[in-house]
Amino acid sequence: MANGSGGRGRFGQLGFIFAAVGSAIGLGNIWKFPYITYANDGGSFVLVYLIAIVLIGLPIMMAELVIGRSTRQSPVGAFVEAAKGAVGGRAWGAVGALGTLGSFILLSYYALIAGWTVYYFGQCLSWSFRGFDTGGQTLGDSFGAFLGNGPLQIGFHALFMAVTVGVVALGVQGGIERVAKTLMPVLGGILILLVVNSFWSPGFGEAVRFLFHVGPVTADGLLEAVGHAFFTLSVGMGAMITYGSYMRSRQSIPRSAAAITLLDTLVALMACIVMFSIIFSVDGAERAGTFGKSATILFTTLPQMFYEMPLGVVLAPLFYLLVGFAALTSTISLLEVVAAYLIDRRGLSRRKASLLSGGAVFLFGIPSALSLGAVTGFSSWAPLGERTAGFFDTMDYTVSNWILPLGGLTLAIFVGWFLSRSKSRDALADGHGDVSRWYFIWRDVLLRFLCPVAILWIIWAVIGGRSFA
Ligand code: TRP
Repeated sequence: MANGSGGRGRFGQLGFIFAAVGSAIGLGNIWKFPYITYANDGGSFVLVYLIAIVLIGLPIMMAELVIGRSTRQSPVGAFVEAAKGAVGGRAWGAVGALGTLGSFILLSYYALIAGWTVYYFGQCLSWSFRGFDTGGQTLGDSFGAFLGNGPLQIGFHALFMAVTVGVVALGVQGGIERVAKTLMPVLGGILILLVVNSFWSPGFGEAVRFLFHVGPVTADGLLEAVGHAFFTLSVGMGAMITYGSYMRSRQSIPRSAAAITLLDTLVALMACIVMFSIIFSVDGAERAGTFGKSATILFTTLPQMFYEMPLGVVLAPLFYLLVGFAALTSTISLLEVVAAYLIDRRGLSRRKASLLSGGAVFLFGIPSALSLGAVTGFSSWAPLGERTAGFFDTMDYTVSNWILPLGGLTLAIFVGWFLSRSKSRDALADGHGDVSRWYFIWRDVLLRFLCPVAILWIIWAVIGGRSFA
């Protein structure tokens, strides 16, 4: 076994933080957060988001780590084990299964988008050396052509999955921890460079003002903030249960979760500063208007904007490298959930489990890859009605609107109402010490009431026809 003598892997203390931060920081921070922040008019939305992160995301992350570390199992086994003696018993394993399935589906299109960043990294390199030239096409057109190119889509998806499989196959410490420890500092360095560079851009002041001004928040914005809190922290589908199962006993869960949350939030805000500074510098509000409308800004407008800025030839490729690295440490965590299930519950070796789960995810991603214009049948497939068009969209809708909220809801209810007080208390105290000052708030206020109510509100809105990107 790649893990050593039959044992499960174990992260080092710092390694765990790097791996979990790597999982949390991803396309959600650098792509989705700036986009929804822009669409919700910045300012107050950011504040609401911060509140959702602290009151809902953080407690749920702690709950996942508690379940993972106290059982030392991947989600299905972790729920079965933790629910021993509780009402419902083994049936709670279904929550773990839902999360594992959700991770599988999310990875199948997340890796596809991640592949685009590799392609654009290559594009930017060639533009940097040969000059920015799109051959008379607009970037939007060339992006559309890229999306509609089946072999290219499948190729980059395969490439990204292959790298992900390679890392997961190398094991918890030798693969996941090592890669996170290497990539996260590079990511941090690039991001700091980009932020510092934006200090001098003409749009910087406006970007900061936009991010922190006070304005009205809509109910929709509130819901979106809560939903994104789950996604960005990688909670709701068992990724943190899985990583928690490799966490050392003498490491503090509350302190680790707080550090992960803080770093994830910082990166999201820094990404906003970078992107908004560029947008507000290059063409003022006019072109920024397109940002709110198009979630694909990263691939349609941004490259050109980079090349209109000083140092763009250096910064553009670096930016796509940053996004690719952020995505990779997230795809690793998603694949690990599925692979760990096969290892823990089906007795496969790590190598076999990684290959098998990665191969299956790749195959399942093919209809998504072909649903962006390459194959009409996949592009127009809409089993859920008009809300979604195409295979990719349908998968995204299912995960973001159903599996993620349902996973978070059942987890909060399980730890809040079903897991015995002594179990969660002991697990939290391990490696931390006294938790009596805030334990009551965490379990009996946030997990029992606030989290379920907030999530039920999301589910209610989804039933009513709302859909979250
Ligand atoms: N958090 C990652 C991002 O922001 C995505 C992600 C990775 C994720 N693993 C997850 C989301 C598990 C939900 C569940 O891009």
